[in-house]
Amino acid sequence: PVHEAPPEAPAGPAELWPEDEELARSAPFAHAMPIPPVLRPTSVTASSELYQLRMAETQVEIVKGLQTTVYSYGGCFPGPTIRALRGREVVVQQTNALDVSTSVHLHGGNVPSRYDGLPMALIDPGESREYRYPNNQVAASLWYHDHAHGKEAENVYRGLHGAYLLSDPHESSLPLPNGEFDIPLLFRDARIEADGTLRYVSPYECPHMLVNGKERPHFAVAARKYRLRVYNVAPNRHISLRFADGAHFIQIASDGGLLAAPVPRDELTLAGAERAEIVVDFSRYAIGSSVVLENTAALESERPEVLRFDITRKADDPSRVPGVLATLPPVPKGMVEREFFMQTFPDTRINGRKYDPDRVDVETTLGTSEIWTIHNWPNRKPAGVFHAPHSFHVHLVQFRLLDRDGRPPGPAEAGLKDTIPIYPGETVRIAMTWGDYSGEYVYHCHHLVHSSHGQMGRIDVLPADPEEQAEPEKPAAP
Ligand code: C2O
Ligand code: CU
Repeated sequence: PVHEAPPEAPAGPAELWPEDEELARSAPFAHAMPIPPVLRPTSVTASSELYQLRMAETQVEIVKGLQTTVYSYGGCFPGPTIRALRGREVVVQQTNALDVSTSVHLHGGNVPSRYDGLPMALIDPGESREYRYPNNQVAASLWYHDHAHGKEAENVYRGLHGAYLLSDPHESSLPLPNGEFDIPLLFRDARIEADGTLRYVSPYECPHMLVNGKERPHFAVAARKYRLRVYNVAPNRHISLRFADGAHFIQIASDGGLLAAPVPRDELTLAGAERAEIVVDFSRYAIGSSVVLENTAALESERPEVLRFDITRKADDPSRVPGVLATLPPVPKGMVEREFFMQTFPDTRINGRKYDPDRVDVETTLGTSEIWTIHNWPNRKPAGVFHAPHSFHVHLVQFRLLDRDGRPPGPAEAGLKDTIPIYPGETVRIAMTWGDYSGEYVYHCHHLVHSSHGQMGRIDVLPADPEEQAEPEKPAAP
């Protein structure tokens, strides 16, 4: 239903979690939702922008009226948005003023190995490191986040995540909503104690859902179309978003860029690290009314309402969603096949092994196309044990989903992907081509508690050798 916007958040104690005295309680929609600031370059050359960021502890207000200490990039929670243009290099100098080691990964980025932000490429406390991003891929909603070996789950949870929006001439030529009508929305869960402490706990104990760093905010919009870049930056959870009135919206992009054509939807499920861009038309609502976005994957202990849009004004709307958005590259034809078993029993592993930075799990060659079959193992749920979904992510490449339990993907999953959910018992097949960089990379579960506990493998991409390429590799034995 469409509600009349209350003049202000209801006063008095919130109705949440009456039995849990430890938790911060907050009135719903008490905050105005902030938009993470766009980072300004410290210098600009003919072909690049230079940025400086400092990772440090910062005090922020997540729940209204409480101060919470988080880890931040540049004092912002989430980190500031980096805007990049295809063909212009972005150089980020990261300084670690925290007392834990960090590593900064550009998620979804086509980036040389030494700038990828690998688990062992640590920035120790007090140190700095320079990352150079070539931006030689199509426009996409990427993000940067921590990847320090064994610590990524906690570091991301404590705040080390931010949006990286890459645009290109084709995408900017489309008549999509832009400027102030193009908004990143970073969703994540948290547990805030009554004294404001951000407690690092399992995702099943995290009842606060944050959007752009605020718990259940409201956002004033004009009665027109918006482009919303929806990120699930929750370290360990799926979210499923829908409007409380069932309103439809249009998905225009997935992880790695625009879809071939718009896809009408009424619900959006994102596993950890997945992104989707949607266009929502608020002109269907009366000025002065509101519509609430709900997370239907909320825990029983949680409220499903996560964000309220208040329609506060009229605005011109020259934007539209074209019927054709992009020409996708052909789906890679695999020359090499590999098989992966993602297991949670007896603990999190891939193919029976935990991540070892000194062991090469996948060796391949630049230019090779591969098909990976990935199982959420076992295929049948063992009685009495929780069988976790996984969110499978591969560095360096944008891959394509071939099928899920033998069924071809729907149009929303048929575009460029770097992260794919695999539900209990499921098998997915993906296809990718190794290019443009040789070197060391990783693949892992993006439920970061799983990757922090070793559900990760190492890939070495060797430079192409024309003599060896004449003989195609044989499929690896399962
Ligand atoms: Cu978003 Cu290896 O990570
Ligand atoms: Cu997992």
